[in-house]
Amino acid sequence: MEFDLNGEHKRYAYKLLAGLITPRPIAWVTTQDENGVVNAAPFSFFNVFGTRPPILGFAPGDKEPGIPKDTARNIRRTGEFVVNLVDEASAEVMNQSSQELDHGISEVALLKLETTPSVAISPPRLTIAPVALECREWSTLEIGQNRLVIGLIDRIHTRAGVLDPDSLLVNPDAFSPIGRMEVPSGYCRTRDRFQMTRPD
Ligand SMILES: Cc1cc2nc3c(=O)[nH]c(=O)nc-3n(C[C@H](O)[C@H](O)[C@H](O)COP(=O)(O)O)c2cc1C
Repeated sequence: MEFDLNGEHKRYAYKLLAGLITPRPIAWVTTQDENGVVNAAPFSFFNVFGTRPPILGFAPGDKEPGIPKDTARNIRRTGEFVVNLVDEASAEVMNQSSQELDHGISEVALLKLETTPSVAISPPRLTIAPVALECREWSTLEIGQNRLVIGLIDRIHTRAGVLDPDSLLVNPDAFSPIGRMEVPSGYCRTRDRFQMTRPD
């Protein structure tokens, strides 16, 4: 099958791309509004894009043309956010936090999510997350109704056991991130792993 995303299949772009480009990691982003209210929302249009300097990106679509989601709105105001990663234990509550609430109503308060203060920025991280990345906005690209938030990663927090303290390698038995799969509601676990050595 072939699809023309600039023509007759334009309206299927989300279904096709979000369904096919999988698995995707999930950024569970915490931000703060002007009153200090903490907002949390998941975004699977997300990845790391470089390490010198360390950068990541995620893409909140606009609610409607020109009207940003609360996460993008808060980042535009403060330039700060935390990307919390999602594992099997936090999957259900992450999903609950994706409900569209009016601006100023906190998913964190509503779902009684415990937070831990960040070190370098104001928005706190989610205590339940196995890994959290304190970020500063580098730039937000506005492309149609997409916003691509590019952040510099300032600090990484990992739950005890996730990394081997000497080698800094991930301990797969202590870290089970989930991935976003088929539209509308597919996810995957990441327990079935295998190794491949790169050719010289
Ligand atoms: C697993 C998952 C991934 C999501 N990924 C995205 C995404 O990449 N971009 C987006 O705009 N919305 C995404 N959403 C929907 C947002 O989380 C939802 O619109 C949320 O209410 C936005 O919250 P905010 O207005 O507080 O920023 C996703 C939802 C779930 C459950």
